[in-house]
Parts: sequence; structure tokens; C-alpha cells
Amino acid sequence: MTQEFIRHLIAFLEIRLQQVMRKKIRLAKIVICSIILLDCSSNRESLEGPSVVGEEATMSTEVLGKWNRSCALCHVNGEAGAPIIGDTKSWSERLCKGEDALIKSVVEGLKSMPPLGYCMACEIDDFKSMISFMVGKNLRISN
Ligand code: HEC
Repeated sequence: MTQEFIRHLIAFLEIRLQQVMRKKIRLAKIVICSIILLDCSSNRESLEGPSVVGEEATMSTEVLGKWNRSCALCHVNGEAGAPIIGDTKSWSERLCKGEDALIKSVVEGLKSMPPLGYCMACEIDDFKSMISFMVGKNLRISN
């Protein structure tokens, strides 16, 4: 009787231990992610002007039309490795470069992305709105 009780107790403790370990691993993952994001947000302090992240993404229908005729060609399906609209993970890695660097990539082109992202009529402000739009308004790197 007691032996069985002890066996149950050991089994119970083993399960608890596994649960605790799993929690610790999860906690460690959260801490690591936070450190990465904090590191990322510290780079952002040097940025000037309106930021790409942390704001509600709004875009006029005119700019949306331009986006539809150019950026959408690649950024909807991830053509040639383009970061997909709303894919917060792949965008957050790029956001660490800072807004100026992202705008520069669009203006000059980057690998398979042609200069101006095919939008000859686009202004710099249009690119800013388009990037916020693609990043997804819910992405917040810092508060
Ligand atoms: C012909 C396809 C294509 C079009 C059109 C296009 N892009 Fe891209 N874009 C890409 C690809 C491919 C990448 C990833 C390049 C890489 O890092 O390999 C990219 C990357 C980017 C990046 C990240 C740049 C960086 O430095 O990491 C931004 C921002 C971007 N595009 C914005 C735009 C905007 C805004 C438009 C429309 C005005 C646009 N793109 C149109 C293919 C395109």
C-alpha cells in the first residue's frame, strides 16, 4: 500500500518537475525575445521624424492605389523573398535597420527589388506610409 503511494508520489513529482522546467524554458525564451526587441528599440532612438512602427497605419486611397500597382506585385506573395505584408516576424528583423535605411533600400532598390519599388510616382512620404501599412499596425517594437 505504502509502496504504491510512494510510486504515485514520485510519478506526480516527476510530472510537476517537467512542468516547472517547461515554464522555465518558456520564461527564458520570453526574456531572450525581450532582449532582442530592446536592442532593436535602442537603435530606433536615433531615428528622426515619424516612425514606421508603433502608430496606427493609415494610408490614403491614392497611396493605396500606388501600392496596389507596385509594391503589391511582390509584397503580397513574397515574390523573390520579399517580406510579406503583415508578416511581423520578417518585418521586425528589417525594422532594426531603422526607417532611413529601409527608405534608402526602396529608393535605390535592394537585390530583386527594383529602384523605387516600381513606383515612379511615389514620394518619400508615400513609401513611409506603405512600409507602415505592410509592417502591420499591430506591430510594436517599443512603447
Ligand atoms: C519586383 C518585386 C518588388 C516590388 C515591386 C517591391 N518590392 Fe520591396 N522588396 C522586394 C524584395 C525581393 C525584397 C527583399 C530584398 C532582400 O533583402 O533580399 C524587398 C524588400 C523591401 C523592404 C525591406 C528593405 C530592407 O532594407 O530590408 C522594403 C521596406 C520594401 N521592400 C518596400 C517596398 C515598397 C514600399 C514597394 C513599393 C513602392 C516595394 N517594396 C516594391 C521586392 C519588391
